[in-house]
This record gives sequence, C-alpha cells and structure tokens, in this order.
Amino acid sequence: VLLILTPASALAHASYVRSDPPDLCGPLAVPQLPPNDPRCQTGIVMPSAPSAISITFSEPISLLGPGVRVLAPSGRRVDKPPAQAHGAQASVAINISEPGTYVVIWQVESADTHPARGQFAFSVGQPSKPAVSAEGLSVGAVTPAGLALQTLARWLRFGGYALAFGVLGFLLLAARPIAPAARRVVNCGILVLLLAEPLALLGQTASLGLDQMLESDVIGDALASSFGRLMGFRIAAALLLWVLSPSLQPSRRIPDSAPSPEPAAPHPRAAAAAFAALAVALAVIDAFGQHAASFRPEWLGVAVHALHLMSMGLWLGGLAGALVARHAQFHLRHSTIALIAATTLAVSATTGLAMAAVHLQSPSPVLTGTYGQVLGIKQLFVLAAIAAGWLALRGRRKKWALSEAGALLCIIVAAGLLVSLPPPH
Ligand code: HEM
Repeated sequence: VLLILTPASALAHASYVRSDPPDLCGPLAVPQLPPNDPRCQTGIVMPSAPSAISITFSEPISLLGPGVRVLAPSGRRVDKPPAQAHGAQASVAINISEPGTYVVIWQVESADTHPARGQFAFSVGQPSKPAVSAEGLSVGAVTPAGLALQTLARWLRFGGYALAFGVLGFLLLAARPIAPAARRVVNCGILVLLLAEPLALLGQTASLGLDQMLESDVIGDALASSFGRLMGFRIAAALLLWVLSPSLQPSRRIPDSAPSPEPAAPHPRAAAAAFAALAVALAVIDAFGQHAASFRPEWLGVAVHALHLMSMGLWLGGLAGALVARHAQFHLRHSTIALIAATTLAVSATTGLAMAAVHLQSPSPVLTGTYGQVLGIKQLFVLAAIAAGWLALRGRRKKWALSEAGALLCIIVAAGLLVSLPPPH
C-alpha cells in the first residue's frame, strides 16, 4: 500500500513530442503533412550523419525490448545498443557510414503501463528507399491484436473484481451468513482475476508486434516495468482474498437450498475489515493502470477511478449476489439493497462524469474520436442498466434482473476498450 501511494507522475499514454533528428510527420510537426506525403517515407534530409537519436515523450517512459532501433536502407541495424531512457527521453548512439534513408523504430511503456510504438525516417545526404515503409504504423499506436488482448484482460479483471469482491462485499452488507453457493461464485471471480494477468502480459508484448509477443527481452522488460509491478500487486491481492475468504464464512454449514434463519452468526469483524482494505487496495492498484494520471492533482484521479471501479464491482457483484441468494433461497435485507443500489448509481455517475469531463474537451462524441464514441455507446448501456435495475427493484422480477446483468456486461465490454484507448486529453 505504501509503495502504490507514491507513484511516479504521469499522463495517460506516452506520446511522441519531438525528436532529434525531427520527425517531419510527427503529430506536432509544423506544417502538418498528410500521412501519405512522400516526405513521410524519407523524412528530413541532413547534410551529415548524426551520432545519436533522441526522442522526447509526453511523460516518463521505460523501454521495452530494444527500445529504439535504427535501420539502414539495407535493413542492417546501425544503432549501438543498449538504448537509454531518462525520464521522458529515450536515446541511442548510432554509427552511420553511408548516405540514404534511415528508419527509427521506437517502443516504450508509459508510467501508467500503456505500451506505445512508432517510427519515423530521416535521410543523410540524399533520400533512398527505406528498409521498412512507414505505412501501417502510426505514432503511439499499438497492434490490433495487442489492443484486443489488453481489452480482453481488462474485461476479465473487471468481471473478476465484481464476482470476487463485489459479491462478497454485497453479501457482507446485505445478508449474513454467506452461503456456499456464493462462495463458489467468489472463487470463480478469484480464478478470473488470476486468469486475466497472463493475458494482460501477452497484450502488453503483442501491442508492439506479434513477432515480439513471446520474446524474452520484451517480456522481461514488461515485467520489470510499472506494468509488472502492478501485475504483481494484482496477483497478490487475488491470492490474499483467496486466503481470507474462508474467514468470512459462517462457522456452521448452510445448505444452498434450505432457507436460512435470519440473522445468523456474525462474520468476524477483523476479517471483514481486512476484506474491505483489500477491495480498496485492488481498486487503487487498478486505477494506476487506467487513465488516472490525466487528473491534476494525480491522487484525485486515482481516488475517482478507484471509486468508479468499486461502485461497478458492488453494482454488478450485488446483482450476481442477489441472483445467487434467490437461487439458494437465503435471506437478503431489501432496505439495504435499495441503499446499495442508490449509492453505487450515485458514485458511478459522479465519478464517471468527472472522468469524461477530464478526458473529453468537446461534449460531442463524434468530435472526440474512437474514445468518445465508445464512451457514448457505454452511456447507452448505462441508461439501459438504470432502467432495468429500477424495474427489477420495484417488481422483483428475475427477467429485469437478467436484463440489468446483460446491460452491465455490455458496460464492462465498452469500459475495457475505453481504458485501453488513448483518451483525447
Ligand atoms: C454517468 C455514468 C457514467 C459515465 C459518464 C462513465 C464514464 C466513464 C469513463 C470516462 C471511463 C474511462 C476512464 C478512463 O479512460 O480511464 C469509465 C470507465 C469505466 N466505467 Fe464508467 N461511466 C459511467 C457509469 C458507469 C457504470 C454505471 C458502470 C458499471 C456499473 C461503469 C463501469 C466502468 C468501468 C468498469 C470502467 C473502467 C475502470 C475505470 O477506469 O475506473 N461506468 N467510465
């Protein structure tokens, strides 16, 4: 907890700011050339060869694998590894002896764990055919396979958090004791949380190129970076919950099918307090891997993201817990359920609106690119979940509860993609 409370400062996703030699087609280049301009293939023409390449990013970075490679027109590497990373700058010495067009390929990870890659060209003496074309690699982009794996890992992480922490938290608040059926759901959630981690690692390395997905250098660098540290914390939190959850059990066994008397044996308070601390800690850890660093001050972003995730967990977990309770026929306090529903809705909407305000400059999703459009779709499902949840609470009908669960799953699908994409701001 102490370690994660002292994060390095960062913005969401590292993006290219400038380089030496400069990228004629970089996002901040003046004048802004279209990507299909032939000068993007050959870059700036320099009279003599530089001795090093340096690239400055929008936030502190660490290198993944070779970090910065420079390819001669023949495809031969002319950089002298290892490349260096100092704060927001990456650099590498080069040894150029022939004229022609050279291609610089970089791949880094931002402090908030998002990977990024890009390339640009420069020419010495006169342009020639570059070893690799600039097509298909845009600055700061990741591969579609990497984005898909990152997103899948996030779905599992959010779903696992809801099933493990959400279900237990909800049942501790609204029902005692916790029936074995609920415990099975919690164990499933812990398993899903653990399963998400190897996928997240593959997503991280595949984001730089499918050929690098299983490369030991790249995997090693990812594990040694802030991504690896957060991954370790997440695995530890899931295992700690697995160790802790039996202490939250009642001392006697409650059959799934038999109605339980109410109220039953109280859960040990110390275990419940440890559980609450663990749920908060995992939400905070997760916030560091999203876009919390876009907020100023940064701790506010961490708090807002963690609250958003916890409210999602309690909402979805509460619904799953209520369905399990209905199936296993154990008692729930309905006044507490209504209170939990109102609180999770208020917290998720307030924190969600705060994040949207920070990340979007324009209120129109059409004007804010893919991130804004995915957010717009997510909001439609939020409205559907609110409507179905309200009907489910009023009528206590299973079909509305199932529709609410469907809408919440769609929200998670959209949210996983949202936090894998670079926000407009
Ligand atoms: C007015 C309602 C809401 C708004 C405006 C909103 C907005 C947002 C935004 C902007 C993000 C992306 C944060 C980032 O880029 O780092 C996000 C993430 C997320 N949202 Fe929402 N949201 C709302 C309601 C909900 C609800 C009701 C749920 C589920 C019950 C939910 C679940 C999530 C999850 C799981 C994430 C990813 C985790 C995180 O970044 O904290 N959201 N939301």
